[in-house]
Amino acid sequence: MEKREQLYEGKAKKVFATENEDFCIVSYKDDATAFDGAKKGSISGKGVVNNRMSNYLMEKLEAEAGIPTHFVEEINDRETVVRKVSIIPLEVIVRNIAAGSFSKRFGVEEGTPLLCPTLEFCLKNDDLHDPMVNEYHIIACGWATKEDIETITDYTFRINNYLKEYFKGIGVDLVDFKIEFGKTKDGKIILADEISPDTCRFWDSKTHEKLDKDRFRRDLGNVEGAYQEMMRRVFGE
Ligand code: TMP
Ligand code: ASP
Repeated sequence: MEKREQLYEGKAKKVFATENEDFCIVSYKDDATAFDGAKKGSISGKGVVNNRMSNYLMEKLEAEAGIPTHFVEEINDRETVVRKVSIIPLEVIVRNIAAGSFSKRFGVEEGTPLLCPTLEFCLKNDDLHDPMVNEYHIIACGWATKEDIETITDYTFRINNYLKEYFKGIGVDLVDFKIEFGKTKDGKIILADEISPDTCRFWDSKTHEKLDKDRFRRDLGNVEGAYQEMMRRVFGE
């Protein structure tokens, strides 16, 4: 597929049109931000890791868990053809272990296993710092319908069940993650955006070493090394 004009540039990816209006090409950057863009930096090789890992996981989710995704075809290390969607403006967050903003907000120590997975919706709006919203807010403001929320909730817990087991198999605890969904032209909800060390918390199962973007957010050092280690765990490289 042919890469045409740039449609959008986000914090970590660019999106390009193709000759077919149902498809786009995403291009993953090494740029990294945190705290709604307030902290800026670069993580060398991150774009490659995130592109390849996200594609690999989405392919598996489609084939082995029956989750429809935007993934179509990896063109090269940083670029992928995806189905064009309008993004539902919600960050869907699942947590298996307390960490990050959950620990801060609720005073639950980081690392405390949760008795069951939790689900949070946040409005995708950096200027408002992605505030948490509930189902009433979402329906009342028209960000998604009740049926959309039901579909998203069903897919999201299935994704968590699948990914939790997958990562366990490569010695990684899936602490929490954020996903986004989009709607195709014909109204179908599919998994979009990415699943990567930018959007998940990965802890080594034995040492609990952080292998994700928290190393950048919290200035823990060896950021590139953590991304490469996740690449090795997933692809054996
Ligand atoms: P949080 O604990 O900071 O709310 O983050 C929960 C999960 O969501 C964590 O895996 C990191 C991910 N995340 C994003 O992907 N984008 C964001 O903007 C934020 C704040 C978190
Ligand atoms: N999406 C957040 C930002 O741009 C980054 C993060 O914490 O993952 O600031």
